[in-house]
Amino acid sequence: MAEGNNILLDVRGLKKHFPIEEGAIFKRVVGHVRAVDGIDFEIRKGETMGLVGESGCGKSTTARAIAQLYKPTAGEINFEGRDLCCLKRQELLRARMDLQMIFQDPYASLNPRMTIGSAIAEPMEIYARRGLLKITRQEIRKRVEDLLERVGLSRYFVNRFPHEFSGGQKQRIGIARALALNPKLILADEPVSALDVSIQSQILNLLRDLQEEFGLTYLFIAHDLAVIHHISNRVAVMYLGVIVEIAESAVLYEEPLHPYTRALLSAVPIPDPAVERARQRIILEGDVPSPDRERHGCYFYDRCSQRMEVCKINIPRLTEVKPNHRVACYLHHSP
Ligand SMILES: Nc1ncnc2c1ncn2[C@@H]1O[C@H](COP(=O)(O)OP(=O)(O)O)[C@@H](O)[C@H]1O
Ligand SMILES: [Mg+2]
Repeated sequence: MAEGNNILLDVRGLKKHFPIEEGAIFKRVVGHVRAVDGIDFEIRKGETMGLVGESGCGKSTTARAIAQLYKPTAGEINFEGRDLCCLKRQELLRARMDLQMIFQDPYASLNPRMTIGSAIAEPMEIYARRGLLKITRQEIRKRVEDLLERVGLSRYFVNRFPHEFSGGQKQRIGIARALALNPKLILADEPVSALDVSIQSQILNLLRDLQEEFGLTYLFIAHDLAVIHHISNRVAVMYLGVIVEIAESAVLYEEPLHPYTRALLSAVPIPDPAVERARQRIILEGDVPSPDRERHGCYFYDRCSQRMEVCKINIPRLTEVKPNHRVACYLHHSP
């Protein structure tokens, strides 16, 4: 395990439950969607932590809770050693500068009526108005131009509107906006999922170059293990609001332990036909169940090909079974 001072973000027991309401006029809460149901993980300075899982597993909710776009139901989000949930308003605003998000759909995250120059300048203007950033109008303009060029666009694009750009270019604009405040941690929520395969690698390369140049730390979300494998140092696999396995990316890819990870991996095509033949294909049947009921056993029980009696009664906890390799599965540790 890394030394404490290497850890930039330490998430403990994070939960985010959304109330389910019923009734047209007098709304009453009839249940909760347990989108994130108690997760623990840490991200070390300068690394890329991958977060993977099928759609609906709670990946976006995790990122949004970390970015303080959602108030967590429970848990701690320790950023540089301070719990964000306990900060006073001004301190929180200051901390928010250091964590920025990149979204899957760059078009939806850009205001169609705002020039891209204004979109990139906006975070700086907001923070300047709040007195948290000392910067002049001219400096903002210069920085917008520099950012445009740094993400591979032209400074002459400042007065254009989002619809004039392709999907890949829009994602570059989203990245420039996320970089505007010089963040330390970038929460990238499926940043290439909406892009053509040919464009995906360009954006991944850009993100990697920016990481090196600015010493950025990433939480990188994808539903596709093929994408996450190359860019991540470590990967956390999420299922129904919980983390079921965390390991170094290469280890997870070569020796996955959790049946869910194995199933996700068996869906990834391997270029080498010999390896492809040797690897047993596991087809994941059914969809992710709705996360609105209280659970007593393993969350993956219904879809698991290796389920045992004990898995129905006890919830397996994420347990370190090898150095730096944690898994929540009774095939690998005792209850
Ligand atoms: N604002 C919300 N209100 C109610 N339910 C939500 C909300 N956001 C997400 N959910 C539910 O929480 C679960 C996890 O969603 P999400 O975090 O978007 O998953 P992922 O990003 O892995 O696809 C899903 O069942 C989703 O329907
Ligand atoms: Mg999502």
